Amino acid sequence: MKKLVDQISARVMEAFEIAGFDPELGRCAVSNRPDLCQYQCNGAMAGAKLYRKAPFLIAQKVVDVLAGDPMFSKAEMVRPGFINLDVAPEYLAELMNQLENDPRKGSEMDSDPKTIVLDYGGPNVAKPLHVGHLRSAIIGESIKRIARFKGHTVIGDVHLGDWGLQIGQIITELKLRQPDLPYFDETKTEDFPEEPPFSISDLEEIYPCASKKSKTDEAYKAEAQAATAKLQEGNPGYRALWRHIINVSVSDLKRNYEKLDVSFDLWKGESDCQPFIPAMVEQMKADGHAYLSDGALVVDVQEESDTREVPPCLILKSDGAAQYETTDLATIIQREQDYHPDRIIYVVDKRQELHFVRVFRTAYKTGLVSKDGCSLEFVGFGTMNGKDGKPFKTRDGGVLRLEYLLKDVADAVYEKSKGNDTLSDEELHDVSTKVGLAAIKYGDLSNQPSKDYIFDLNRFVAFEGNTGPYIMYSMVRIKSILKKFQDANPDAVLGTILPPVGQKEADLYLTIARFGDAVDDAYAQNAPNRLCRYIYDLSNCLNQFYAERNIMKEADPAKQASYVSVIRLVLEVLEKAVDLLGFEAPERM
Ligand code: ARG
Repeated sequence: MKKLVDQISARVMEAFEIAGFDPELGRCAVSNRPDLCQYQCNGAMAGAKLYRKAPFLIAQKVVDVLAGDPMFSKAEMVRPGFINLDVAPEYLAELMNQLENDPRKGSEMDSDPKTIVLDYGGPNVAKPLHVGHLRSAIIGESIKRIARFKGHTVIGDVHLGDWGLQIGQIITELKLRQPDLPYFDETKTEDFPEEPPFSISDLEEIYPCASKKSKTDEAYKAEAQAATAKLQEGNPGYRALWRHIINVSVSDLKRNYEKLDVSFDLWKGESDCQPFIPAMVEQMKADGHAYLSDGALVVDVQEESDTREVPPCLILKSDGAAQYETTDLATIIQREQDYHPDRIIYVVDKRQELHFVRVFRTAYKTGLVSKDGCSLEFVGFGTMNGKDGKPFKTRDGGVLRLEYLLKDVADAVYEKSKGNDTLSDEELHDVSTKVGLAAIKYGDLSNQPSKDYIFDLNRFVAFEGNTGPYIMYSMVRIKSILKKFQDANPDAVLGTILPPVGQKEADLYLTIARFGDAVDDAYAQNAPNRLCRYIYDLSNCLNQFYAERNIMKEADPAKQASYVSVIRLVLEVLEKAVDLLGFEAPERM
């Protein structure tokens, strides 16, 4: 089903054509002066130059064509040449009735489906998750769901950091503690134990200890680097140990992501692209793109239009070691080979922007992908700060333990809802977990990704204002009215929505009709915040509607059925929207 704005545009474009002008001029948009009209067309202004005619003459001719059109209750020319439009209430009602039967609630699929690799999450094995990883997971998951809803094929890849120094550090520490483990026996090349020699809590203790020693003890650091190199060269014992570290970490990560309702199609990591590196490096050298500079192999990526210095992309360090850039480049080759993506989107901390600028430029310059074949996109997000304005820390002052964060927020919701005597304690805990997740995700997603924001527990869990719980509450309230209505009128037939009466009702209908616009904006700009803004507006319109209409006491059964049908439609739209954001409402709260 076409979006309302497109239906209106189609009609106005036709009118431009009939009036003798280029139909393209007839594109309409939501009015930026809602006090004057609902939709507007500014095409006559652009047409003035084209036809050497005063814009108001063009607009008037078009408006004359539109006179009496059942789509509009108002189509007027406003000097110097705008066309202001209001949709007829009957037309809006008809649209609502169609939306009730449209499973997509007015959001069309894209006609040209793309293949998208989405690189998000990005945790590092054996290292604790930090807030940056939380944001990447939340934003990435929503971008994924939105793109899929639009009909695109999205492959979500967690892209583990599984190849770095942290592994060498853990191996070094383990060797110190348990030198007799078979992994350190240089004569042994196979048949290593199936069971890992550590648990996730062991790893959580070992890694920080090793990382600390590595910072202060030069000999220890050298050993950890040597262990990393040995692993990367393929030492069988180290490889076996490494696999254990990955398995233990990954099952813990999966458990955490599941709690966040975030899931990945691929659990690939930096290690997976290693086989592609040697040939890539050779090719870059052979093509003359990569050259030696102070012993290191680099590719120049500075462009004339740059206003800042963009340092060369480092392919190999002077000791021959591959870099973060190298892995990201080789991963592009791998993804190109496996999926031929039209787009690769990276959801990563915005402080890594320069890294990606260099990687993308190198990838295009060296022909790993072509500019019109694959668009490489960076969605950089800002930092989640504490109330002190510094990167968020948990209550014990440490880096984020996701479980604690989720629990803190659920507890805060629980405390607020305690007076509720309609729910058992168990239900209340369940509800608090759901609403808590909505609080965290909405608190994050309602900001433009690139902006920093303050994690303010009290504000995030408030039931009023622009918060997740407010949206949840709006949805639960509808569910409860629907139930009350159905209990009182078991035979009532829902589904016929009457024309809106008054401004507030019309606003509610118009807002319902704009779901497709919100999805399109969010998709086009990789910006779930557009969808948050939309559901906040919709919830506000709904609450204004309640304030004006007493649904349960309405005496006219046709009106009452229409009101109930409208709020049911709002609920369906909100359910779609919050699912695209990555959470869901409880039945009651
Ligand atoms: N593991 C990296 C980090 O913690 C993030 C990875 C982002 N993705 C990528 N393709 N570089 O900083």
